Amino acid sequence: MLKNWWHNTIGYQIYPKSFQDTNGDGIGDLKGVTAHLDDLVDLGINVIWLCPVNKSPMKDHGYDISDYEEIDPMFGNKGDLIELIREADRRGIRILMDLVVNHTSSEHPWFQRALEDPDGKYGKYYIIREGTDKGAPNNWRSIFGGSAWERIGDTNRYYLHLFTKWQPDLNWENPALRQEIYEMVNRWLDLGVRGFRVDAISHLKKDFSAPDLPVDGADGLADGFAFFTNAEGIGVFLNELKENTFQRHDAMTIGEVDEGLPPETLEKYIGENGYFSTIFDFCHSIFHVNSAKWKDQPVAMMDEIKKLLFEKQAMVNGRGLLCNYLENHDLSRTVERFIPENEIDFYSSSLVAGINFFLPGIVFLYQGQAIGMRDFRKERLDEFRDPTTFVLYEEQIRNGMTAEESFDQINRESREHSRTPMQWNSAPNAGFSTVEPWFAVNPNYREINYETQKKDPNSLYAFYKKMIALRKSGDFQELFIYGSFDPLYEDEPGVIAYRRSYDSRSVAVINNAKPDEAALTLPGTVKSTLLSNYDTIVINSGIIHLKRYQTVVLELL
Ligand code: GLC
Ligand code: CA
Repeated sequence: MLKNWWHNTIGYQIYPKSFQDTNGDGIGDLKGVTAHLDDLVDLGINVIWLCPVNKSPMKDHGYDISDYEEIDPMFGNKGDLIELIREADRRGIRILMDLVVNHTSSEHPWFQRALEDPDGKYGKYYIIREGTDKGAPNNWRSIFGGSAWERIGDTNRYYLHLFTKWQPDLNWENPALRQEIYEMVNRWLDLGVRGFRVDAISHLKKDFSAPDLPVDGADGLADGFAFFTNAEGIGVFLNELKENTFQRHDAMTIGEVDEGLPPETLEKYIGENGYFSTIFDFCHSIFHVNSAKWKDQPVAMMDEIKKLLFEKQAMVNGRGLLCNYLENHDLSRTVERFIPENEIDFYSSSLVAGINFFLPGIVFLYQGQAIGMRDFRKERLDEFRDPTTFVLYEEQIRNGMTAEESFDQINRESREHSRTPMQWNSAPNAGFSTVEPWFAVNPNYREINYETQKKDPNSLYAFYKKMIALRKSGDFQELFIYGSFDPLYEDEPGVIAYRRSYDSRSVAVINNAKPDEAALTLPGTVKSTLLSNYDTIVINSGIIHLKRYQTVVLELL
């Protein structure tokens, strides 16, 4: 593999709205990010991905952009971004923005003009079709529920929106639109942004060849995913995007490419000349230990996660680097998803942290993950803030759930749980803001906060620091990025373990992801202990005795 600057990424995703408010309006801002750069240096971070900060009506919290050139005043201005880039650069941290180009906001001037004149220049920037005698042009369901088509006024025309109706899809078939996007992307790169997390990018191409699909829900609609996810021909757009922008700036890009990528196309996506630097591995994101399926079998769930993680690595097999992450702004917190409530503590939380941290690829953390922020369950639906939460609530009821069941499901798995304000210290509002924040702070902030954990050498934060330091250490950095990957104890229930080797070094990462102890025959002689979440590691005549939720990294001879 050709070595590249971004291969040593220890990434950190920031949801600016919830990171740090500096001007007392209850909303996080760019200055708040700059203010915490030294804290990120302390943790060991070298790349930041900022969730969208462009001008937006915030119907999807910034994933609905109404002006690609401007920063939303809620977050500050372009000067603040330039300042952030400069200050980050001084500390060896690169800034990635979120590139949202599958759709714009319905308030984007392009779309406003398209509505006025669907046959004009801007009408061709979007996907506008005549309705049929049955109504919408086809029966695709939007990813966020309801029809993927919205009627334009009282005309017989509809526009496509794969997400909310406030997010009309752009028409990538139109070369003029593509050119406009490339120029915009290059302007941000010229400004000093070092790359992008590329939002919803697998949906750029839509395949309209099929007639209506068989209805599969009470809403009378159909799941059209296969027709608008990595559809035949998408590579032409992705390649052109890369050649006209990212490649020219040696940018780092992380594609939000959903599951289901055909294995044989992997090289095209993340190979040496791939469309992106890397893509997220989403395989663990479907699991929740409190879901009906896994409620009573958390260990079986871990084994299923292991299976998928390992299958993914076997599939990639040196053809590129995946982006390994556990948390983001679309998922509830990991310990809540992976560990039964009564088992959540330092040991299980640090175990979870270690599961995929040393797999081949790069790593990305989400704000609050390193201090073990938890979900904050609500009493009432209206305590949530995301319009899609309410759409989902109604949709689940339409599909047969009671109101209570629908609320419980959302309260358990809502993506909004990860969006509560960052817990910096035990001051009012967790040090996030001097006024009541836009979204309620988790009341556990007096126990779970950055300041307390930073002082405590035995905290989860301290453990994350150790993991990061190990990944970055001169002796092992290349091993963890480029080393070979071989599963260990694959059939051992609840054990997620693997061996990494590079040059003459070899390391075993062993995670006992269950509440019972485990005794395992070591795969070689231990040279040294590189990491453990317990003070002691018991090894007797070649057998390692792991405590509940113990995670260890051992160097082997
Ligand atoms: C991505 C984002 C998500 C957003 C969606 C539509 O999945 O991560 O937050 O709602 O795209 O832009
Ligand atoms: Ca603010």
